[in-house]
Amino acid sequence: MSLLSILDRVADVSAFDKVIEPARKAVQVALRPQGLKDLLHGTWLGHTLHPVLVQVPVGSWISAGVLDAIPPLRPAATVLIGTGVAAAVPASLAGAADWSEQEVGVRRLGAIHAVANTAALGLYVGSLVARRNGRGGLGRVLSYSGLALATGSAAIGGHMSYAQSSGASHAATAARALTTDWIDLGPLDDLPEGRPALRTGKGGSVAVPLVAVRRGARVDVFIGACSHLSGPLYEGSVETVRGDECLVCPWHGSAFDLESGSPRRGPAANPQEKLEVKMTAGRVMARLPGRHE
Ligand code: FES
Repeated sequence: MSLLSILDRVADVSAFDKVIEPARKAVQVALRPQGLKDLLHGTWLGHTLHPVLVQVPVGSWISAGVLDAIPPLRPAATVLIGTGVAAAVPASLAGAADWSEQEVGVRRLGAIHAVANTAALGLYVGSLVARRNGRGGLGRVLSYSGLALATGSAAIGGHMSYAQSSGASHAATAARALTTDWIDLGPLDDLPEGRPALRTGKGGSVAVPLVAVRRGARVDVFIGACSHLSGPLYEGSVETVRGDECLVCPWHGSAFDLESGSPRRGPAANPQEKLEVKMTAGRVMARLPGRHE
């Protein structure tokens, strides 16, 4: 069994949920203003914010580890450790916002990731205190211990991203099953006005759910699986969100601009995959854009 496959076993342990669920609810209450949540998810950026923010503490702490090995450069290491400690706060908040809207296995591993990161942060704060009190040797022991813990925690975070697809666009994954050929979605007149309708695209032998929204003579077509966690967008609704007409996911309420597919409300941070549309003899035709070829 590989080291990281042990994490999959951990993600199956339901006993953790007794502790995790109250923590998740507390995070959701603390971050309740939707604008704050969307800021932390990265909805405004069109990209998950947490992996962007963690570059600062990780880079600062690794660099501090190198500088600490060279005695004349140790004062600079202390500055970098302080920078990492300060930057860890917004990075943690962004991670907590994402974590609170993830599926159960990711939440279990995410809880371990958060505890390890908090412990690493505590070691770095202790290191700063020790350095300030003239106990440089202890400060270096604490910061190298923090670096080891943060590195292990980063491996857990990587497993959550790459093995459990947290933060990945589930719509982009679904789109890979489609070809870029034009797909006949049937007559325009069969589509209901102003609400999502399920249509199916053929991807080789696989049927890929699509969602079509008709507004008068205009039709917008998207991959049917929500970019956040594959929620069925064809069971969602059309609503005005922040001034734009949006397709809203029935699972966690993410809203995607019908014009562009850009997220207007989280938890989704990735855009929704949108298909090109044309009308042929009163029938709606759609295909994936060329970047999917
Ligand atoms: S699956 Fe979570 S918002 Fe769509």
